[in-house]
Amino acid sequence: MLTRVIHSLKAVEGYLSGEDLSRELKVSRAAVWKYIDQARALGYEIEAVPHRGYCLVSVPDKLLPQEVQYGLAAKKFGCHVHYFDTIASTMDEAFRFGMAGEPEGTVVVAETQTKGRGRMGRAWASPKGKGLYFSIILRPDCALQEISKLTLVAAVAVSEAVEKATGVRALIKWPNDLLLGNRKLCGILTELRAELDRAQFAVVGIGLNVNTPAGQLIPEAASLKGETGKNISRAAVLQEILRTFEKRYTAGQQDAYADTLNEWRARSATIGKIVQFQEAGRKVEGLAVDLDRDGALLVRVGSGKVIKRMAGDIFLG
Ligand code: BTN
Repeated sequence: MLTRVIHSLKAVEGYLSGEDLSRELKVSRAAVWKYIDQARALGYEIEAVPHRGYCLVSVPDKLLPQEVQYGLAAKKFGCHVHYFDTIASTMDEAFRFGMAGEPEGTVVVAETQTKGRGRMGRAWASPKGKGLYFSIILRPDCALQEISKLTLVAAVAVSEAVEKATGVRALIKWPNDLLLGNRKLCGILTELRAELDRAQFAVVGIGLNVNTPAGQLIPEAASLKGETGKNISRAAVLQEILRTFEKRYTAGQQDAYADTLNEWRARSATIGKIVQFQEAGRKVEGLAVDLDRDGALLVRVGSGKVIKRMAGDIFLG
């Protein structure tokens, strides 16, 4: 009901009378008061003027469900949003919700993480209120070997959404880092709960540096604020990611991956570059020539042979 009160206030310009609110939401005037108080406690600035009603003056810069869901119009992604001010990692919490049967598209989002994690056991810095740190529960109907595609879908969706919301075009370093130049803007982590050869559910975690000032970033990292010089609405970027990701994921579930793979190629920072990686304890160098249907990177080595890199890190030469 709190969400409905806030959304009703957002939908009008100017004042909404307590009487209209109580009629619209079918609750008493006293209950309306209670929700207005609750909204204020969350950081919404609401003016109350006798004989005119309530006016929403400002909204908090927080990724509250009320902000993420307002006007979202996605069918699944974001329909359930679990919000935390501080959490160890949104991945762990999303796993707990996944085990408890929360539906596909459920989002766990936090203002900061004390143990944010990245791929290969690395840490993910999560300065409070500056970035997007969230995880989405997915229940894909596919075999385990298909799961790596999810990560590619997520990378394309985030790159497209960031471009739509901010005009910034970040390129994808295989498999799923988003880069601005050679600095990292976004990292994506996919973890699984599996039974035999099927995924029970997957959790895709996304960390995006949004409003971190350039001076507070490590030299290898970039942020949208550092790039544009402007503060960016994190809620607007998150909404765009949820819409785009849902669209691409749904197409993928209907076996329509080709367009996403082509978009990945078009946004790639890797194809056509010399890459290096470790394979079976030795260093391999070659030209990244393409992305395979299953998401593997195809690398032509000195002998002319093309090898498939399925997982792991690569270094751009
Ligand atoms: C990487 O680049 O290695 C992946 C980084 C993924 C970071 C995100 S932030 C939200 C979610 N919670 C985590 O602990 N990690 C992911």
